[in-house]
Amino acid sequence: MFNETVLKEIEEIRAKFPDRKSALLPSLYIAQREFGWLSQEAMLVVSRTLNLPEAEVRGTASFYAMFRHNPVGRHVIQICTNVSCMILGAERLVDFIGARYGVQPNGTSPDGRFSLVIMECIGACGTAPAMLVNTDFYDDLREQRIEEILEGYK
Ligand code: FES
Repeated sequence: MFNETVLKEIEEIRAKFPDRKSALLPSLYIAQREFGWLSQEAMLVVSRTLNLPEAEVRGTASFYAMFRHNPVGRHVIQICTNVSCMILGAERLVDFIGARYGVQPNGTSPDGRFSLVIMECIGACGTAPAMLVNTDFYDDLREQRIEEILEGYK
């Protein structure tokens, strides 16, 4: 499941900290980056690589909203619908994404291209509405701009 490069990356992170628990969050991040989500198998590999109890790895992974526990599409759209974004039309944009790409909140498009997550404020209230696509940030969104942006994610 993890290739040698990824295992080496986790081991290098582990070597940077006197306490291996400190390497847990970045290691989980790497696992999610590689596979898109944290399967039981991925968490087991992290547990073994860091020599930490499996329950501790699962407990930490389940605490943070940034970690996903189900398979996702090739690209994850996270759109904010909190107050500033909502006032400026974020819910309409969610409907647009659903109609245009066939993906509903907490779901994945039938072609596996996009998953859609509704999120809380991402700190771009002054230029709302805002979203992330994978780790790329976009703000000042309108339907046409979203379509132009998402066309870049095949
Ligand atoms: S409310 Fe959406 S970025 Fe702050």
